[in-house]
Amino acid sequence: MANGIRYFVGNWKMFGIPSSYKILDKINGYFIKDKKNNKKYKIIIAPPLTLLQDFSKRFKNKKINISAQNCYHKDNFGAYTGNVSPFMIKKLGINYIIIGHSENRASGENNKIIKEKVALALKNNFTVIFCIGENKQEKKNKKTIKVLKKQVSKVIKNKYNFKNIIIAYEPVWSIGSGKLPSPHELKKNAIELKKFLREKFRLNYNPKLLYGGSVDKNSVHAFKSIKELDGFLIGGASKSSKNFVDIIKNFYK
Ligand code: PGA
Repeated sequence: MANGIRYFVGNWKMFGIPSSYKILDKINGYFIKDKKNNKKYKIIIAPPLTLLQDFSKRFKNKKINISAQNCYHKDNFGAYTGNVSPFMIKKLGINYIIIGHSENRASGENNKIIKEKVALALKNNFTVIFCIGENKQEKKNKKTIKVLKKQVSKVIKNKYNFKNIIIAYEPVWSIGSGKLPSPHELKKNAIELKKFLREKFRLNYNPKLLYGGSVDKNSVHAFKSIKELDGFLIGGASKSSKNFVDIIKNFYK
C-alpha cells in the first residue's frame, strides 16, 4: 500500500523558455495555499536542460523540486559533443533525474545504456525516476508484466538502495495518446510489479511506483483509488499551471 507521500511529477519534455518559470511560480503558490493537503505530496518538475540551472536556483528554497529529464551515460567530463553528464547536472543542485523514458528508448537508448545512466545517477546521489512500460503489441500479447520485469532486471542491480529509486510505469501506448488502462488493469499491474520488486530486491518496505500516460484532471480521478500508486508522471498536462494544479485538486477531492 502507498500510505506515504504522493508524487506529482511533471515532465516538460521539449517545452519551455526562460520565462516559463512563471508556470512554476503559480504551482508553487498553489502548494503554499493548499494547507489542507500539502504535507501529503511532493511536486517535482522536469524542465529541459536549458532551464535547469535557472530553475534550480529560483526554486531552491521553494516547494517545487527540479528534476532533469535525462543525462549522458558517461560521467564527469569528456569528448562527447552535445552531451551532459550526471556529475554536471548534479552540480546545478538538482536531485532528481528521469531515466529510461520511452521516448529516449525509441530514439536508441538500450538497456545497456540505461543501466549505465542509472548507475552513474545513483553514484552522483540522485533519486532516479526510472521509466518502464510495455508497447501496444506487448500488451496485446499479454506480455506486460514480463516486459516490466525484464526492463527492471536488465538495469537495476541487487545492491541498489530502493529509497533512491522511483519506478514510473508508463505504458508506451498510453503516453500522449489519451488512451488509459482501466483502473482494474492498472491496479493489478501495480500490485504485481510491487510484489516482484519486493521479492527480487528483498525489500522489507514497498518501493515507490508512479503511473504515467495521459494523466490529466479526469483520469487522475479514476486512478486515485489505486492505493498501490505513489503518484503520477505527467507530460502534456504539466505544461500549464492550471492543468497541473487541477490534477492535484482532483486527486484530493
Ligand atoms: P503524457 O506523457 O502525460 O503527455 O501522456 C507522460 C510521459 O511521457 O511522461
